[in-house]
Amino acid sequence: MKLFKLFSFRGKVEKSVGQKRQFIAQKISRRYCFSAVSLFALQSVVALLGAMDLVIPDLPSPIPFEYGRSIHLALADLWPLIGTMGMVYFFTTAELNREIYSPRLARWQYGIAMLFSLSIFGTLALRIGNGREFLEGLPIFYVGICLALALASYNLIRTLLTDKRNITPAAATMTVGIIFLLLLLLPNTITYSNPITDEATKFWVVHLWEEMAFELTSAGFIATFYIVSGLAPRAQVEKWLYLEAVLAVVGGLYGTGHHYYWIGFPSIWLVLGSLLGLVEVIPVGMLVHMTYKGLKSSKIRSKREKLTLWLLLSSVFYHITGASLLGLFISIPWINLYMHGTYITSGHAHLALFGTLGFAVLAGCYYVLSRGSEPTLKGYRGGVLAVILLNSGLITMSSALLVAGFMETYLWRILGMDFMEVSLLLNPYLIIRAMGGAMYTLGDLLLFWHIFKAWQATKSKK
Ligand code: HEM
Ligand code: HEM
Repeated sequence: MKLFKLFSFRGKVEKSVGQKRQFIAQKISRRYCFSAVSLFALQSVVALLGAMDLVIPDLPSPIPFEYGRSIHLALADLWPLIGTMGMVYFFTTAELNREIYSPRLARWQYGIAMLFSLSIFGTLALRIGNGREFLEGLPIFYVGICLALALASYNLIRTLLTDKRNITPAAATMTVGIIFLLLLLLPNTITYSNPITDEATKFWVVHLWEEMAFELTSAGFIATFYIVSGLAPRAQVEKWLYLEAVLAVVGGLYGTGHHYYWIGFPSIWLVLGSLLGLVEVIPVGMLVHMTYKGLKSSKIRSKREKLTLWLLLSSVFYHITGASLLGLFISIPWINLYMHGTYITSGHAHLALFGTLGFAVLAGCYYVLSRGSEPTLKGYRGGVLAVILLNSGLITMSSALLVAGFMETYLWRILGMDFMEVSLLLNPYLIIRAMGGAMYTLGDLLLFWHIFKAWQATKSKK
């Protein structure tokens, strides 16, 4: 009982910024979003060094490539997670127009999430890990991340239950997304002697986190943003949200099948994995239609909302191309048989994970951190330039990876050439990838700077 009291909702918690209400949860969400954007900046620098290491093998580096890669992969999941936690608090309070159940619990959650995330990066840098791709940190640290997610789930459920009659679909969708993040990570905190169980649970994070849980949290954010910015009426947005939520769960759960091809699952998953991937395109198509209609009928005047929209539209673009269409192509069993685990996978991974999820989280984090300030024209142009650089870098990087992947598949898997010979032939494309990575890093640092300035400008107002 005492423990519950410690975290429970306390007294007067609101103050005003301009005309809009400012909740404590929204203030707390700033530290999540700022940490996420900072880790994102760190990731591109680490990744660029890794990409250079692939083409200049003797590049002096304090961390060997395999550990650098594992830090890169840990960052790829954890900064979007931390950003999402902040976004969910911010947009849930905006949707419900009331405080969350316990701001204090949200602060604890932040400390725990950061402590265990930094422990993962730190220990991997010291070459301590478990070799389980994507979840390479020590299992105990994932218990810590689960604890943070459990606190978030509890806090959000209590928030919704405080006023059951005023639960909005967007707030409920984001809460369900957070609960799924917890449930899918939980089985990964123990080790399995059966390799099939081990691989399957790993893909619940690699696939289901992204294609189901984060899909739900991002959908909630997109819905709230569209309503608040006047891009679409609430009724229309909510219709879209219901369909998106159902298809994310159904498509996500069965679509995981395309990851089960190689790990000993029955072959029915081959069919489910490729067919169910198809449904994931439907809500994205609807979102594009809604955006098009919204942009035609309403004129967004705020530069802050415009920049958020640029980031969001980038996410929508990669959702259709790099995630859905390319994903669909590589999940066709006869194609996957040859291209599995080549640079094509890496191309898809970058386009889908950063392109779709990364851009959406950046849009949300920028929106959260710039609340209460409008960028100057120069600042806005700088922000747009950063988005252009990120897009150009990502497209250059991923196109080079896709060409390298097709060559790798053809020369190595089809013609049966020697692996080392093929690797040498791929070098020019990996150089182009590193150049794309440099452009991307520039965009990343520029965007970070822009967001940092917005954060600074709004700090005193909070
Ligand atoms: C936002 C959505 C998506 C994200 C974030 C995402 C992310 C990823 C990542 C990170 C990998 C690499 C996994 C590894 O190295 O083991 C991967 C692989 C894969 N993805 Fe996606 N993906 C998305 C959507 C899709 C969709 C919609 C499909 C199919 C319809 C798909 C099909 C595949 C396949 C078949 C592989 C395995 C490739 C191989 O065998 O090497 N993905 N995805
Ligand atoms: C400067 C930008 C980046 C560069 C230069 C870069 C470079 C790399 C390199 C060298 C690898 C090792 C495997 C390979 O050679 O492809 C890799 C893998 C990966 N990166 Fe990045 N990366 C960048 C940004 C990102 C971002 C922002 C994300 C996601 C948030 C991401 C997600 C991944 C994933 C999921 C893999 C594993 C791919 C696979 O399964 O084959 N990367 N990246």
